[in-house]
Amino acid sequence: MRAAAVDLRSDTVTQPDAAMRRAMAGAEVGDDVYGEDPTMHRLEEEGAAALGHEAALFVPSGTMGNQIALHLHTSPGCEVICDARSHVVHYELGAMAVLSGLLPRVLPSDDGLPAPAAIEARIAPEVSYRARTGLIVVENSHNMAGGRVFGRDRLDPILAVARRHGLPVHLDGARIFNAAVALGTTAAELASGFDSVMFCLSKGLGAPVGSLLCGDAAVIREARRVRKMFGGGMRQAGILAAAGLLALQEGPGRLIDDHERARVLADTLAELPGFELDPATVESNIVICGVGEHPAAHALRDPEAADPAATFLAALSEAGVLASHVGPEHIRFVTHRDVDDVALDAVLEVVERL
Ligand SMILES: Cc1ncc(COP(=O)(O)O)c(C=O)c1O
Repeated sequence: MRAAAVDLRSDTVTQPDAAMRRAMAGAEVGDDVYGEDPTMHRLEEEGAAALGHEAALFVPSGTMGNQIALHLHTSPGCEVICDARSHVVHYELGAMAVLSGLLPRVLPSDDGLPAPAAIEARIAPEVSYRARTGLIVVENSHNMAGGRVFGRDRLDPILAVARRHGLPVHLDGARIFNAAVALGTTAAELASGFDSVMFCLSKGLGAPVGSLLCGDAAVIREARRVRKMFGGGMRQAGILAAAGLLALQEGPGRLIDDHERARVLADTLAELPGFELDPATVESNIVICGVGEHPAAHALRDPEAADPAATFLAALSEAGVLASHVGPEHIRFVTHRDVDDVALDAVLEVVERL
């Protein structure tokens, strides 16, 4: 019989626990579009405080939080400078172009954070024949770079470039608490100096729905208008905020376990033939590894199909382990609170056997 699946596709797959469901059922609510939901007020206040920003706005998804920020910092026709593998470019369906008339100006990087000098070289001069640069976006931790994390030593030079040119900087901090835990610092320390920061309650922190966009009071006042315009004004949303509060209060403290399990997985994969990864680059809860030369990918492969990663994922799935596809030769594992040591042992057994 096939074993029950251990789902490592993403840290978004977690189930709300009993305490969260109880908090949701008992939440005090009001109409949040009228600003009358007390549970939502509490979440937004606690979220802003955790990030060291003045104010916060609950949004249904990280994507909406990022897109509201992009919209409010720019005007149509502007370029947004960001890393070539960033979420705002690859996984937000061209929303910056569709919703805000923006063009991504992507820069390559080794680890997800372009060099400050490369960013500065891409800022358009103020001439009559160039699209204006409107915004710089930084992602921390960086999903597609394999959960790489960046401390103040890497962030400050980028903020200095932005200030020199009078440009705002948005932080896609979907997993900023993972970054903080990995670096032994606080989310507020990593969020300081950014004009806006989005972080997700519904990833490693474990809430079923929602993200917070943080900034100063003026930014968040405008963000509230843009959220409504994008269709994200929610009414008795305190039901969601109640789960978000528990995620915010209790989630960060256990991320260290996810990181430890990702490390064990990375060390194991690096020792096995056919997996390509450098375990030293695994810093948080994401493990991306190459499987292009993996024997299981090859043995099962349709010679016509140029996607060993898909073949390998099918074999993994058959053995009860779910991971995700990040290109024809790479797969991604993400650890989260619904993967304990027993589940991890089952995953290790499967990858060793395959
Ligand atoms: C770095 C990053 N930013 C933004 C998002 C978007 O979050 P959501 O799926 O809630 O729209 C994700 C989701 O995986 C992400 O990894």
